[in-house]
Amino acid sequence: MVLDLEKRTYLFVTGASRGIGQRMSIEVAAKLKPGSIIVLLARSEQGLLNTKESIEALGNNVKVYTYSTDLSLVTATQFRELLEKSLKGVKISDFERAFIIHNAGTVGDVSKSAVDVSDANVWQQYYYVNVFSVISLNCEFFRVFSGTPKVVVNITSKCGIEPFASMSFYCSGKAAREMYFRVLATEQALDNVVVLNYAPGAIDTEMTEQVQRESTNKELVGLFKKQRDNKTMLTPEQTTAKFLQVLQEQKFKTGDHVDYYDE
Ligand SMILES: NC(=O)c1ccc[n+]([C@@H]2O[C@H](COP(=O)([O-])OP(=O)(O)OC[C@H]3O[C@@H](n4cnc5c(N)ncnc54)[C@H](OP(=O)(O)O)[C@@H]3O)[C@@H](O)[C@H]2O)c1
Repeated sequence: MVLDLEKRTYLFVTGASRGIGQRMSIEVAAKLKPGSIIVLLARSEQGLLNTKESIEALGNNVKVYTYSTDLSLVTATQFRELLEKSLKGVKISDFERAFIIHNAGTVGDVSKSAVDVSDANVWQQYYYVNVFSVISLNCEFFRVFSGTPKVVVNITSKCGIEPFASMSFYCSGKAAREMYFRVLATEQALDNVVVLNYAPGAIDTEMTEQVQRESTNKELVGLFKKQRDNKTMLTPEQTTAKFLQVLQEQKFKTGDHVDYYDE
């Protein structure tokens, strides 16, 4: 099956101010039909405006909204209001597809081991940004676009299926988040709902810079340093190109974990 992106689409991307989310927003936007709406969410207003500017420069007649929002504070009601605000004056039935990319994420405190943090509040804060807010937004998205064909992408990681020392926040959060989307895919096993868990590979962004700077995992730090020094670390452009190929070829089953390095 082929997933044709050239549709009148409502596209929602979290973490769209920089890194992978910024590149994916621009590249997916480039494929959409005129009349599409693109909603970009992150905290940095300037980063979001940069992404919006790049999309508008494509000249493909889509409308772009930016919402500077902190996912550590946002409620389901605020997500609902934000979705409704972006849809003011348009009919849901105008859209051939609703497409969401749950991309925003943080790596957590990589200077700590799995037995260092006993304060449940610290874990709760991490899980609020990386798991709870994602589920909350996804529920509201499904409520608003109940009758619309949907593509739901969770940006996951190899860390969601394999343990890495110093990354107990990140690995456990990615595993929980991915399992939520696998359950969703099982429940929504319909032709008009496609769920993809996409693992982008190790990418040259602020996230891997933080790991390289702060992690106690010497092996991982050494690997990232080597990749940076000899310029072999993947770029947001490279992983986005693969992401579009994976989507368009649609060889995966709904709910699958697909990695950049998969054939
Ligand atoms: N880089 C990698 O090697 C790699 C590998 C596997 C998976 N991933 C996943 O890819 C996704 C994007 O990562 P990246 O590498 O592009 O990282 P990044 O450059 O650090 O970007 C993270 C994005 O998330 C947003 N974000 C973080 N905290 C937020 C909050 N509290 N509220 C709202 N937005 C928030 C950031 O925007 P603001 O700071 O403006 O809020 C930014 O747009 C993440 O889910 C990550 O886990 C990355």
